[in-house]
Amino acid sequence: MEWKDAPPPEDNEQAIIENLESWDDLANVHAQGSGAKFYRIDQWLDGESKLAPWEIEEVGPVSGLNLLHLQCHIGTDTLSWFREGAKVTGLDFSSNAVIEAERFAKLLGAEDARFFVGKITDALETLGGEEFDIVYTGRGAICWLPNIDEWASICSKLVKEGGFLYLEESTPMFNSLEPMEFGSHSLFGVKYDLFNTDPVSEMGQGSYADPDLPGIRTTHTWEYTYGSIINALVGNGFRIDFLNERDETFFNPHPEKFVESRPNYWTFKDGEMKFPVSFTLKATRL
Ligand SMILES: C[S@@+](CC[C@H](N)C(=O)[O-])C[C@H]1O[C@@H](n2cnc3c(N)ncnc32)[C@H](O)[C@@H]1O
Repeated sequence: MEWKDAPPPEDNEQAIIENLESWDDLANVHAQGSGAKFYRIDQWLDGESKLAPWEIEEVGPVSGLNLLHLQCHIGTDTLSWFREGAKVTGLDFSSNAVIEAERFAKLLGAEDARFFVGKITDALETLGGEEFDIVYTGRGAICWLPNIDEWASICSKLVKEGGFLYLEESTPMFNSLEPMEFGSHSLFGVKYDLFNTDPVSEMGQGSYADPDLPGIRTTHTWEYTYGSIINALVGNGFRIDFLNERDETFFNPHPEKFVESRPNYWTFKDGEMKFPVSFTLKATRL
């Protein structure tokens, strides 16, 4: 079944409950099932990093630093930071995802890696008021959160003064555009209204890691412009150090337009007109 519009949630609470059901269904599939190829689990267990080279360079040396990964999913990114030398903590609202993350931590001998089950909105209580040198998040994270200002406020309390938040996400443009037929050409047209603050509610089969995955899931996501992200961070005590845009995406929703550029990333096929599809942002906590 193709993904199609779903009824809007009664409220954000219902949206989060349905999103959690969907993520709980996907965790095992991504870690051990038909999504494991997309996640390059075998290669990752053999030592390949899940982090892009620019992430490692832009975050800088992490040896001995306390790094919190918000929305850590099955822990593959979190444990890649462990391999870089960080003391890692992951948080995700899916208990199934945390089970997989803890299993991987054991397999890799990362005894000190800690994983917590909890919603972003409960992160301060779940993590007992702990503050971190680095809060790392992204690659399909903030679109699951109904209130970007609340997220930024929570992040500001999780990062130590002088520490920083680092985020990699799809650009607002990439999220809102979709290939459409214009005469004999397939061009990107606007699919989502980026000024709409209601969630995008959809139901269907398949995941970004396995398009053929059976079982119907309902999801609710929110699109954020650069302005809303940056203003939320600045308004909650952060200074923006940089925002770097790229022509490489960490998932490939449009295989007719993109080709693999390196492990875990895709770029525009030859002849396609390029636009920024992902960005990284570093924000220091003042
Ligand atoms: C696409 S993953 C991003 C993580 C990472 N880039 C990856 O792919 O492994 C999104 C994660 O956000 C989590 N999530 C979604 N909404 C959440 C919320 N409100 N609180 C905590 N975690 C949430 C999901 O369980 C999922 O593991």
